Amino acid sequence: MAGKTKLKVGIIGTGGIAHNHAGGYLNLPNECEIVALCDIVEGKAEAFAKEFKLEGVRFYNDCHEMMKKEKLDCVSVTTWNAAHKECTIAALEGGANVIVEKPMAMNAKEAEEMLAAAKKAGKILQVGFVRRFGADADTVNQFQKDNMLGDVYYAKAVYIRRDGCPGGWFKDKNFSGGGPVIDLGVHVIDLCRYLAGNPKPVSVYASTYNNLGPNRAGGGESAWSVADKQEHPYNVEDFACALIKFENGLTINMETSFNLNVKNDYIDLLLCGTKAGVQLSGDMEIYTTMAGRHVNIRPTGRTGFDFTGSFLAEMAGFIKTVRGEEKCRATGEDGLMLMKIIDAIYESSKTGKSVDLK
Ligand SMILES: NC(=O)c1ccc[n+]([C@@H]2O[C@H](COP(=O)([O-])OP(=O)(O)OC[C@H]3O[C@@H](n4cnc5c(N)ncnc54)[C@H](O)[C@@H]3O)[C@@H](O)[C@H]2O)c1
Repeated sequence: MAGKTKLKVGIIGTGGIAHNHAGGYLNLPNECEIVALCDIVEGKAEAFAKEFKLEGVRFYNDCHEMMKKEKLDCVSVTTWNAAHKECTIAALEGGANVIVEKPMAMNAKEAEEMLAAAKKAGKILQVGFVRRFGADADTVNQFQKDNMLGDVYYAKAVYIRRDGCPGGWFKDKNFSGGGPVIDLGVHVIDLCRYLAGNPKPVSVYASTYNNLGPNRAGGGESAWSVADKQEHPYNVEDFACALIKFENGLTINMETSFNLNVKNDYIDLLLCGTKAGVQLSGDMEIYTTMAGRHVNIRPTGRTGFDFTGSFLAEMAGFIKTVRGEEKCRATGEDGLMLMKIIDAIYESSKTGKSVDLK
């Protein structure tokens, strides 16, 4: 490692998920160092530095000022969704490579502007699709290198919470851009699209509802609801389902909720190919036929999604990409594709018609 210059890192938005980004950078002490922190809330960045025992860090309340005063190689944008565009473009124009949390933006138009800024600056723009770095995704990709699933033509991308609105700004459309579709659905749609080879979406037919959430916010039984102080209105959808079709013939069946009258929370991730199917949620299982018999195969070793470990892998991947040692695994183009799908889900629900994507 001798001779390698440490990359200078800044974080914009020192809230919840910034902890995982900081953890990822601090896990690579020979590769990078956090030198600047920015949050619009007075004292929040300072408290964050104290928590991580960061020394010599400079603090800002305005990302534009931070980018003017600092020379940063890497910036994490970990603000609420409504600030992703402004902070990402400021960081790119200030000369940094950026990893912006999912969803990339509030909508596809914003994502296009961010992508254009990255191209103009000649910098990397990675999107925080952490599920692409899970051991489950790695395992399926390994199998697909040997074409074990064949052509994947159907996927289930289901992320259901019975009473699990994160509260606060997440339920306020002006800050989040939407509910479970943009917060949870984005993860599982992207994972299925990624594992099926990143095909281009061609049409979306969807329904969204908000029957339960607005009445239950702050009054539900779950820890999520109890923690909600009602400082924001609940004006996003609480449930959505969608059929998303892709140009290679893949159909993704998506369901997601913050609130739904079901027995319990669950995630259901299934990819079905011409040679085999794979269930990713729970213990990974592969379904195929051998010698004329149906068989269910359980791969050994690590095959599950582990939140902390996947973030470490994601941040390590970002640093490697910035150093030119690895191809970006979750590009701005991927982020834009997902924003187009999300916009189409909301539009289809409004019009009651299928939406074609260009
Ligand atoms: N990848 C994942 O699994 C995952 C998990 C949780 C959250 N997220 C995403 O991370 C982002 C942040 O979520 P969170 O739960 O950490 O929210 P949070 O509210 O805990 O933190 C957001 C922080 O951003 C700050 N902020 C807002 N606008 C700012 C601006 N213009 N400049 C500087 N600071 C600003 C806020 O003051 C706050 O401290 C969201 O986009 C969310 O969707 C991703």
